[in-house]
Amino acid sequence: MKKVSLAVVGATGMVGRTFLKVLEERKLPLEKIYFFSSKRSAGTKVIFNGEEYTVEELSETSFDRGIDIALFSAGGSTSEKYAPIASAKGCVVIDNSSFWRMDNNVPLVVPEVNANDISWNKGIIANPNCSTIQAVVALKPLHDKYKIKRIVYSTYQAVSGAGMGGYSDLERGLKGEPPQKFPHQIAGNCIPHIDVFLPDGYTKEEKKMMDETRKILGDSSLKITATTVRVPVFNGHSESINVEFENQFDLDELKEVLRNAPGVVVEDDASNNVYPTALNTTGKDETFVGRIRRDKSVESGINLWVVADNIRKGAATNAVQIAEELIKMWNQE
Ligand SMILES: NC(=O)c1ccc[n+]([C@@H]2O[C@H](COP(=O)([O-])OP(=O)(O)OC[C@H]3O[C@@H](n4cnc5c(N)ncnc54)[C@H](OP(=O)(O)O)[C@@H]3O)[C@@H](O)[C@H]2O)c1
Repeated sequence: MKKVSLAVVGATGMVGRTFLKVLEERKLPLEKIYFFSSKRSAGTKVIFNGEEYTVEELSETSFDRGIDIALFSAGGSTSEKYAPIASAKGCVVIDNSSFWRMDNNVPLVVPEVNANDISWNKGIIANPNCSTIQAVVALKPLHDKYKIKRIVYSTYQAVSGAGMGGYSDLERGLKGEPPQKFPHQIAGNCIPHIDVFLPDGYTKEEKKMMDETRKILGDSSLKITATTVRVPVFNGHSESINVEFENQFDLDELKEVLRNAPGVVVEDDASNNVYPTALNTTGKDETFVGRIRRDKSVESGINLWVVADNIRKGAATNAVQIAEELIKMWNQE
C-alpha cells in the first residue's frame, strides 16, 4: 500500500486537534506528517503517535516538499489563498472551510453518500458543513428508496461548531462573564443566528444546509428550508428533520432502511427513553437517528431526530474518511 505524506493545516484548532486523534485511531498509512497554524501558534508542540512535532507557520513554500494530502481547517480565507498553492504543487487538499464547497470544479463529499465524486477532483475536495454531513448520511438511503420532495431542517448546534472561541464563550457564560464570540450570552440561551445574515433573512449557515444538501444528493429539484440555532451544548449537533416523500412508505420498512444504511445507528425505543442525545454521541463517528415517526399532516412524511459529533463526523472524521478513499483510489491505479 502506498504510504502518503500528509499535512494538517490549522492543527492547533478545534477541528485540527481532532484530526490528530482520528488519524491516530484510523491508522492511515503515513510516510511523513506536518502540522501548520498561523504565526500565533507556530512553535507549539503536538504529540502524534507518541512523537513530538513542532507546529510550523503556514507559508507559500509550506507545500514544496512532496506532500500528497493536506487536511485544511483554518478558515475560509486561508483555504482561498493556500488551497490553490498546495494543489499546484501536486497535493490534494481536503478542505473543511466553506470557501470551495459550491465551486462546480470541487467535489463536495460525504463518503457514505457520494464517495464516487472523489474521482473527479482537480486538487481540492470540500468537506461539507457539519450540520449538512449528519443530515445527508441519514437522508440519502431514504431519498434512494422513497424520493424526497421537501425537507425542513431545524438545528440545535453545539458551541464547539464555532471553534475554540465558541467553546470558551459557553465556559465564560457559565461563570457569568460576557461573550466574546457570539452576539449574545450562550449560557442558558438559544441563539437563532449562526454565521452572517443574508439579504433574504436567512443566515449563511441555513443557506449552506440548503445548497450543500442539493449538491451532495445530486438533486437540484429538492425543496429545502432551514432554521439553525446555537444552543448551550458543548459538543454534538442535534437536528429535527421533517421530510416529505414522493412515494408512500411503510414505517417499519423505513426504519429497516435506516438500520441498514452505512454510517447510521438507529436508537429508537421511546418506551424505554431511547433516542440519541448530544452527550451520548460525543466521541463517536456514526450518525444517530431516533424519534422516527410519521408526519400525519401530509400524505407521505416523516419526522427524524438526527444527532452526531460535529467535530468528528461533522469535520475531522469525514475528512479523514475522504483521505482514506483517496488513498484506496491511488492504490488501485
Ligand atoms: N468546529 C466545527 O464544528 C467545524 C466543523 C466543520 C468545519 N469547520 C471549519 O474548520 C475550520 C476551523 O474551525 P475550528 O472550529 O477548528 O476553528 P478554531 O478552533 O478557531 O481553529 C482555527 C485554526 O486555524 C488556524 N489558522 C487561523 N488563521 C490561519 C492562517 N492565516 N494561517 C494558518 N492557520 C491559520 C489557527 O491557528 P492559530 O492557533 O495559530 O490561530 C487554528 O489552528 C473553519 O473553516 C470552520 O468553518 C469547523
